[in-house]
Amino acid sequence: MSTSKPLQLDEFLKQCRRRVDQRLGVALEIEIASATLLEAIRYACLGGGKRIRPVLAYGGALAVGGELAAADNAAAAIELIHSYSLVHDDLPAMDNDDLRRGKPSVHKAFDEATAILVGDALQSMAFQIISADPVTQKNALGANNRLAMVQLLSQAAGATGMVGGQSLDFEAVGLKLNIQQLEQMHSLKTGALIRCAVLLGSLSCESTSDSQMTALAAYADNIGLAFQVQDDILDVVGDTSQLGKPQGSDRDKNKPTYVSVLGLDEAKALANSLSDKAIAALQKFPANADPLRELATFLVSRWH
Ligand code: IPE
Ligand code: IPE
Ligand code: MG
Ligand code: MG
Ligand code: MG
Repeated sequence: MSTSKPLQLDEFLKQCRRRVDQRLGVALEIEIASATLLEAIRYACLGGGKRIRPVLAYGGALAVGGELAAADNAAAAIELIHSYSLVHDDLPAMDNDDLRRGKPSVHKAFDEATAILVGDALQSMAFQIISADPVTQKNALGANNRLAMVQLLSQAAGATGMVGGQSLDFEAVGLKLNIQQLEQMHSLKTGALIRCAVLLGSLSCESTSDSQMTALAAYADNIGLAFQVQDDILDVVGDTSQLGKPQGSDRDKNKPTYVSVLGLDEAKALANSLSDKAIAALQKFPANADPLRELATFLVSRWH
């Protein structure tokens, strides 16, 4: 099944993916003592993944009048944290999934100890990228914004964000959650990094105002939740080869999801209404927020 996306969005997606892949490529050309660890790090991050969070970071930068180049570090950092979260999410102690991004998961291609260390390494690398003074770059960002980025990313990635949500997910196996509990879990495990992606992008531009940040946060909270609702839907109606990860994993592991709680039709309706709310939050932004508007629709109509 194909995903319909307007040509302009298609071009934007391609451009953003090229940029972040280039930035990640440079970041991962490092010398480290363990050749295996380096190989596994590169395996986890390069050559796969939709790069949605980087695209959102670039969209956030454009929305506040910034340039794509300004958001390269933010885009790379959020993708590093996301890639780490996937490596750990697939581990036998967590979702125990052997396929990721169309390839054996890191713990299968390498081993569990390496997969744990890859996640650890990617996490610190993300903070290195956003905190370093990018002296060699044209759009060098001031220390205040870089510090704000470190703050945001640490809250979004850690126990108050993604890691906290993953813990709720783990504790929820076999339980019936109500809709509030489900929303809390999804907003943390997935929404937190998506929110952070948009905000890091906007912080890449020095002139971003508090009211712009507030509106972008409202946009991102809605699409963050919508993204995981769609992920739950695809676990039921998707296809393993297109998803690049095992379809039916949630059901096999007895995880409460939006589909198991609401049913497929209601979950779909919820994803669409969250996407509409996200677009409404951008009301005051001019046309340079159009990529974010189009993304809100695309993310709930995607098939992988
Ligand atoms: C998968 O995220 C994990 C969730 C938070 C739902 P993506 O669907 O963005 O995975 P990649 O990066 O494209 O592999
Ligand atoms: C992902 O949730 C949340 C993460 C922090 C990685 P899922 O467990 O649903 O993600 P997939 O379906 O394995 O990609
Ligand atoms: Mg999981
Ligand atoms: Mg999983
Ligand atoms: Mg899933």
